[in-house]
Formats: sequence, C-alpha cells, structure tokens
Amino acid sequence: MLLIKNIKKLVQVEEKPRTWIAGKDMAQLNCIDNAFLLIADDKIADFGENKDLNIETADYNSLTTIDASGRMVFPSFCDSHTHLVYAGSREIEYIDKIRGLSYAEIAKRGGGILNSAKLLHNTDEDDLLEQSLKRIEEIAGYGTGAVEIKSGYGLSTEDEIKILRVVKRLNKMTPLTIKSTFLGAHAVPEKYIGERKKYVDLIINEMLPIIADEKLADFIDVFCDNGFFTVEETKKILIAGAKYGLQAKIHANELAASGGIQVGVECGALSVDHLEYTGDDEIKCLLDSKTMPTLLPGAAFFLGMNYPPARKMIDSGLPVALASDYNPGSSPSGDMKFVLSLACIKLKMLPEEAINAMTINSAYAMNLSQTHGSIARGKIANVFMTKPITTYEFLPYAYTAKLVDTVILNGKII
Ligand code: NIG
Ligand code: FE
Repeated sequence: MLLIKNIKKLVQVEEKPRTWIAGKDMAQLNCIDNAFLLIADDKIADFGENKDLNIETADYNSLTTIDASGRMVFPSFCDSHTHLVYAGSREIEYIDKIRGLSYAEIAKRGGGILNSAKLLHNTDEDDLLEQSLKRIEEIAGYGTGAVEIKSGYGLSTEDEIKILRVVKRLNKMTPLTIKSTFLGAHAVPEKYIGERKKYVDLIINEMLPIIADEKLADFIDVFCDNGFFTVEETKKILIAGAKYGLQAKIHANELAASGGIQVGVECGALSVDHLEYTGDDEIKCLLDSKTMPTLLPGAAFFLGMNYPPARKMIDSGLPVALASDYNPGSSPSGDMKFVLSLACIKLKMLPEEAINAMTINSAYAMNLSQTHGSIARGKIANVFMTKPITTYEFLPYAYTAKLVDTVILNGKII
C-alpha cells in the first residue's frame, strides 16, 4: 500500500463520481486541505483529512509513506486527442508559416499531413516505436496518465496499420492508459487526389475490416473540414465505423464552419474536437447531445488562429474538454500544463473549469470517466504530486515552471 499524507491540497476529489461536468458546475473543483490519499495495488483505496487517517496496524508493515507537506496532489491529466505516433518533425514548414503561408496553403503544396505521411512511410515500425516511446515518457513527466493516440499519418492500409500496431505496443510497454483511434480520413493521399471517392472506399472496404479484425482501434475519426473531408464523406465513414463498433471522435470546425459538429452529433460521436468555428447553431446542437466538445488551444496558439468560444460554450451550459493535439504540424507539444495556461489565458476559462476540462471531461472523451479523471475510491491510482506551491491557481499562472514532481501511475511511482 502507498500512503501520501500531509497533502496541502488534494484536488478534484469525488465522493460520488460523475461522468462529466457541464456549464456553471465546471467552476467548482472539490478539494480537501491537509489530506491523505491511500492507494492499494493499482487503485485509490481511500482519501480524507489527515486527522481522520486510520490505518489498521497490520497494514503498516506493507506501507510505503510519502510526506507531501507543502505539495498538492492531482488526478493525472487525461489527454483525449493526440497524434503522437509520428515520424520525424516538420520545423521547416513552421518557417513557411512564419513567412506567412497558411496551414491550408502549406497542405495544398504537399506539405502538412502528406509530408508526415512520407516520413512515416520511410520509417520502420521499430524506429517509429522508439520515437513515439520518447514522447510517451515525456508526457508522463508532464503529469499525463491517460492518452488517446490517432493514426492518420499512414494514409495507406499498410502504414495506417503500422501506426496502430505501434499504439498497441506502447499500450503494453508503458504504464499509461492508452486508447487508439483510426484516422484513415486525415487527408486524401497524393495518389488519390482527383479520385477521392476511391480513397474513401479504400478506408471503408479495406482498412476498416482489417483494423477491426485485429482489434487495433477503439474509435474512428475523420478530419471533417474545408479542403479535407466533406460532411457526406464523413457520414459515410462514421456509419461504416459504427458497424464495427467504433464510436466517433472527429476533427471538426477547425478551419471553417464545416458542418462537422452537426454530423458528429448526428452520428453519436463521443467527442467533436477543435471547434474554432462554433456558432449558436453548433452550440444548440451540442446541448442536446452526449458529445463532448473538445478544445485544443495548443493548435490555435501554434498556428496563430482564432481560439474557440469556450466562454460562450460553458456559459450556455455545455461541458468542455481540453486536450493537447500533440502532433508535428499544428501542435508539437504534449504539455498539458501549458494547455491549462492557454485555456486560462486565451480561452478565458477559470483554473477550476480548465482543470475539470483536462481531467474528468477529457476522461469522458476517451470513455474512461468511470476509472480515470478524478480522485475517487476504486478508480485507477493515476495521480501526480506537485512541487511545493501556494495555490492550485499557481499551476496555470507560472506557465513555464516545471511543477509536476512525483508521478504515480497504476499505484506505482514512476
Ligand atoms: O489536429 N487538424 C488535423 N490534424 C492535425 C494536424 C495534422 C498536421 O498538420 O500534421 C490537428 O491539428
Ligand atoms: Fe488533431
């Protein structure tokens, strides 16, 4: 057993676990001051105020104790949207961006996603695994305990499967909880430009059956946006995915009011992500749904785009989740603490709202809110302890400070 005692503040505790937190409730963050947290095996066994700590004498023999004086304990961040299995990097395009080219212009010139697809094609599975493992270790150090990883830099049957096999291997090798998403519809590959229907058919008739058969994906995604996939194509692909039991998590409304939010909701998507272009109609549509609106401020920051209207969404009663979008083109960072700062500074979310958005709500966006995303009895013991800090608001405020100190995943210090 592992006991953390004298915790200055135990953050995001739940007596009665919820599936998500919406609207004005997002501004409430349940905490216990001067707390203890008891972990048995890989689960949270108990928590409460230090003064109520009562451990059976017999248990003391097998107990490891951490004194957390001055420090806070949080549930691990849940990063529900990443593309972290990729080959190489794209800093040269980033210079094109500095010189004034837009994301869409770079994509049109064969840069962007197609560039990453070329790099990935020329990288073998073991090399790809090694590159991706480094990123997983990096995000674990930032306090992330559960992560969703998408394919989408393969764009051929063979290479999409290569990515998803790497995700499966990462899941076995690392203590993080990993969910995988098939994103064959990330871009139309060079070979099929002018014959896009053929590519959509390839996704549906060739890639999906193999991926489902080998159980390589939990979810299905489509980049439903201007210059990428249309609403009709998206619907066709999501319906095909649903036949194999793959729920949708889609890229929507990043570059335009694409209709992506509506088609996602119509197809029962677990989440719709990006949402820079979200108006009243989209908000209304989301309010009647079980779809989690997921915001990725790291991408808007890196690409210098407009930020999604988070304030309006929350004030309308919606839940909001936050994720990093870790990828080589639009968000080459998986640092969830920085996402927390961006959410506060750029999306005008309160620290409490942002913390809820990147724990319990992003757990929901991976179908994990029963087991992750808060400090609750019986949940997986994925938590991190901070360096000594004065308040939890200090986390987003000190936006480059390394404040995540000790990481515990599945009950073990890593
Ligand atoms: O989530 N928007 C689509 N896909 C990624 C970016 C992909 C890339 O540029 O490599 C995203 O931002
Ligand atoms: Fe993305």
